[in-house]
Amino acid sequence: MSTRASLRPAASRPASRPAGDRRPAAGGRPWPVLELDAVTKNYPSRPPVTALRGVSFAVAPGELLAIVGPSGSGKSTLLHLMGTLDRPSTGTVRVTGLDVAALSDRELSALRADSIGFVFQQFFLAEHATALDNVADGLLYAGVALAERRYRAAEALGWVGLGQKLAARPTQLSGGERQRVAIARALAGRPAIVLADEPTGSLDSATGSALLDLLEELNTEGATIIVITHDHAIAARMPRQIQMLDGRIVTDTTRTQAGPPTSSVPARTADPDSAGHDGQPSSRAEHRP
Ligand SMILES: Nc1ncnc2c1ncn2[C@@H]1O[C@H](COP(=O)(O)OP(=O)(O)O)[C@@H](O)[C@H]1O
Ligand SMILES: [Mg+2]
Repeated sequence: MSTRASLRPAASRPASRPAGDRRPAAGGRPWPVLELDAVTKNYPSRPPVTALRGVSFAVAPGELLAIVGPSGSGKSTLLHLMGTLDRPSTGTVRVTGLDVAALSDRELSALRADSIGFVFQQFFLAEHATALDNVADGLLYAGVALAERRYRAAEALGWVGLGQKLAARPTQLSGGERQRVAIARALAGRPAIVLADEPTGSLDSATGSALLDLLEELNTEGATIIVITHDHAIAARMPRQIQMLDGRIVTDTTRTQAGPPTSSVPARTADPDSAGHDGQPSSRAEHRP
């Protein structure tokens, strides 16, 4: 693929910088595309549920990471907050430096359309529309004109290896191909962040593995990708893993280029001696500006 530059979101985005924007000036380290600080989420159900209990992490541009944890650990809640589909009860969520709490619903929709691409387990493709239109329609809310939408959609389908299947409808595609269409749709707007929720959950293991290869390839070409999964084997393939349990991060581990994980951020309550096996300092600091 010759998409290396095009998969990186425009550096100038977003255009406006509201008050409270803490992004460092150009020339410094890259600011996080996503930053959560002491985030909690309570559901006012009966009985009330605390789904997140003080979650903090930052994601730098160009990262590929997994958020892994068992059912009920808070992954979906976290996905909704990262995707600006919901707001935290307390704490701060920043997407491309913008504090989600400071934005109106309308501004939030614009931020979402501009900066976040979603990939879901169930693909969510329109069955009667072609692959090209499924991807092009994903750009509607970004305010892109039709000809440009189609051009970008064809380009994105090329990125995922479906350049020959623009006119195919989902019913004519395999499960793996359908998920590639969904990935193309997520990427077409060149979002700052791609959020993939159990992206291989509906695929057999060989197809799922090929899909993870594709995500890795797209990441090396510039896409920032967060994979939410309950599957530790999937998470183990990612350069960084954040493990959730009971609404908390229990470890945040970054692997160096070659070899096994070298550093790990234990939960605040964990025994400090159980940090990285070589006593390395916290990797989390490296993700902060
Ligand atoms: N809308 C909701 N109302 C009440 N409780 C919820 C709601 N959504 C999730 N929960 C609860 O919050 C906790 C975390 O759920 P969730 O974020 O879906 O975890 P996961 O995706 O890891 O399975 C669970 O106890 C779940 O029952
Ligand atoms: Mg879930």
